[in-house]
Amino acid sequence: MTSATPTREEALALLQEFNQSEILIRHALAVEAAMRRLAGRFGGDADEWGVIGLIHDVDFERFPDEHCRKAREILADRGWPEAYIRAVLSHGWGICSDVEPVSDMEKALYAIDELTGLVAAAALVRPTRSVMDLTAKSVMKKWNNARFAAGVNRGVIEKGAAMLGMELAALIDEVIAGMRTVADEIGLAGQGGQ
Ligand SMILES: [Fe+2]
Ligand SMILES: [Fe+2]
Repeated sequence: MTSATPTREEALALLQEFNQSEILIRHALAVEAAMRRLAGRFGGDADEWGVIGLIHDVDFERFPDEHCRKAREILADRGWPEAYIRAVLSHGWGICSDVEPVSDMEKALYAIDELTGLVAAAALVRPTRSVMDLTAKSVMKKWNNARFAAGVNRGVIEKGAAMLGMELAALIDEVIAGMRTVADEIGLAGQGGQ
């Protein structure tokens, strides 16, 4: 059973219970960090935004074909508040759920989920393999190169940025800043990192 307001520790434990893949854990940490950063910009609760970022793909490793649907089951089963569950499902709006992002927090999650992947890919092709010296400008240069990080859905990111009322470059800046705070944990610190 989870606390009335799920804590980061509870979210991380649940994430790790359902996910062993280092790639998925790193993705969750990157999304969490970007959400915390954006909470600051939008006056949101950084812990709440962060926890939702951390747990958003909880079902993906075990139930990739039932993504979002299983997340609802897992979180409801553990007593997570409906508002948190709704937010988690909204990241898959039009993809694996019909829950439209409405709050700033939901729009932020929708906008940055795929973007963290593009930022990570752009960091990894730098000589430093690091997010620390990556700029939004350098990420923008990869934007129209469909073969670069081909799995990243640019359309979703553009839609999300528009919903948030943010320029793409500004959103990328925030995501880079967020990911820098966990560069070591997500393997993007360069200098002997992996
Ligand atoms: Fe997802
Ligand atoms: Fe995700």
